[in-house]
Amino acid sequence: MVKASFHFPRGFLWGTATSAHQVEGFNTNNNWWAWEQQSGRILNGDKSGAACDWWGGRWRDDFDRAAAAGQNAHRFSVEWSRIQPVPDKWEESALDRYREMARNLTERGMTPLVTLHHFSDPLWLTEMGGWENEKAAGHFVAFVRKVVEALQEYVNLWVTLNEPNGLCVQGYLEGSFPPGKKDTKAYLRALTNLARAHALAYHTIHMVQPTARVGLSIYYRDLVPAKSSSPLDRFAAGLSSRMFNDFFPRAAQEGILRFPLWSRTLPEAKATQDFLGLNYYTRDLVSFDLTRPGQLFNDRSTPAGVLMSEGNYIANIPQGIYRAIKWGLKYKIPIIITENGVEDSQDVLRPRYLVEHLHQVWRAVNFNFPVKGYFHWTLVDNFEWERGWTQRFGLWELDPDTQKRKKRPSADLYAEICRENGISSEMVSRYAPEISSQLFP
Ligand code: BGC
Repeated sequence: MVKASFHFPRGFLWGTATSAHQVEGFNTNNNWWAWEQQSGRILNGDKSGAACDWWGGRWRDDFDRAAAAGQNAHRFSVEWSRIQPVPDKWEESALDRYREMARNLTERGMTPLVTLHHFSDPLWLTEMGGWENEKAAGHFVAFVRKVVEALQEYVNLWVTLNEPNGLCVQGYLEGSFPPGKKDTKAYLRALTNLARAHALAYHTIHMVQPTARVGLSIYYRDLVPAKSSSPLDRFAAGLSSRMFNDFFPRAAQEGILRFPLWSRTLPEAKATQDFLGLNYYTRDLVSFDLTRPGQLFNDRSTPAGVLMSEGNYIANIPQGIYRAIKWGLKYKIPIIITENGVEDSQDVLRPRYLVEHLHQVWRAVNFNFPVKGYFHWTLVDNFEWERGWTQRFGLWELDPDTQKRKKRPSADLYAEICRENGISSEMVSRYAPEISSQLFP
C-alpha cells in the first residue's frame, strides 16, 4: 500500500450539521411537538423530549467537542417558534441565545452556517394552514429579517430552507411528516409557497446584510434507472429527479416553477442562490411503473449487493455524492455539502462510509468542481423525526435519559481528517482497513 494523502483546498469548511428541533428539547410550541403527541405518528411512540438538551445549555459542551475535534465550522438552525411564539411577539431572549451560540462558534474560529427553517413551524402558522397558506411566505420573511438583524455580526452564511423538496413530499404526499396529508393539490401549494418564501428571504437577507451568502439545502436523492438500457426506466428516473432534485434550485436560478406538465413564473425567485447546499445520503433504483402516475411512474428499490446501514435505511453508495456534485454544477454556483451521514449505533459502517464519501468529494474538488465545505450529519445522536430515537447518526453517542455522551471511533477519525484537511492512507488503515487497498492501491 502506498503512503499518500488526499488533500482538500485551504479554507475548506469542515463541520457537522444539527437542527433546532432535533437537539434543543422541549420545543413545545411547534407543529412537530404536537405531532409527537399523536399516537402512531412516531416510531415506537418516541418523543423529542429533552432531545440533546441544547436549550438547557448543553450546546456549549457539544460545541467544545466539535472545536476540540478540529472542526472549523458548524451548521445549526434557529427555531421559529421560540423567536416568534405568537405572531405579534418577538422573544428577544431567544434571539440572544442564538446570538450567543453564533458568537461562541466564531470565538473558537468556527464558521457558523445558520439554517432559518429546518422542518418545524410555530403552531400559530400551522393553525393558519401552514405552508398551504399564501401568507406563510410573508410571515417567514418577517422572522428572517429579525434573525438576520440579530445574528449578522457573527453569521454570513445562511440556508433559507432545509430540504423543502423532502418536506413537501413527506408532509403533503406521503403523510409521514406534519401536516400528514396525501393530497397533490396541497403538495403543489406548499411547493409554491416555499419557493416564494425562499425568494423573498433571499432578498431580505441581502437587504439587511449585503455581504451575506445565501442558499437552499436540497435533499439530493440519487435516482438511477434500474436498467440503464431501458428508455422507460430512464424516463421515470429523469422525471422524478427533475421534480424532486431540481425543482427548488431551478426555481432559484430561473425564476420559473417547473412542474411535470406545466410551469409558472416566479420572477422574484430568479438568481436567488449564492451557493447550493447538498444533502446526500443514498441512492434509489427507479423502474418505470405505469400504474403509478401519482409517483411519476416510479417504482423505487434499493441497489443490490451494497452495504446497508443498521436499519436498512441507507445504502452505502459513495459514487452518489460525486454524482450529486456533478449534477449541481449546472447551477454554476459554489457547492456546500450541508449534510451527509449514516445511522449506525455500533459505528461499524460509519468510518468506511465517511472515508468513501469524502474520497468522492475529494475527487470532485480535484476536477476543480467548486465544493467549499462538508458538514457531517451529525454531531451527537438526536431525534430523527418520524423515526424517533431508533436511528443514531451521531459522531457521539447519546443516552437521551441521562444526557451522557460517548465518543464513537468515527469522531476521532473525522477529527484527524479535519485537522489534516485531508485523508491519509495511514488514517484509513487504522479506522477502515477494509478499504485501504481500494483507496490506496
Ligand atoms: C434531514 C435531517 C435528518 C437527516 C437524517 C435529513 O433529511 O435534513 O434533519 O436528521 O436527514 O435522517
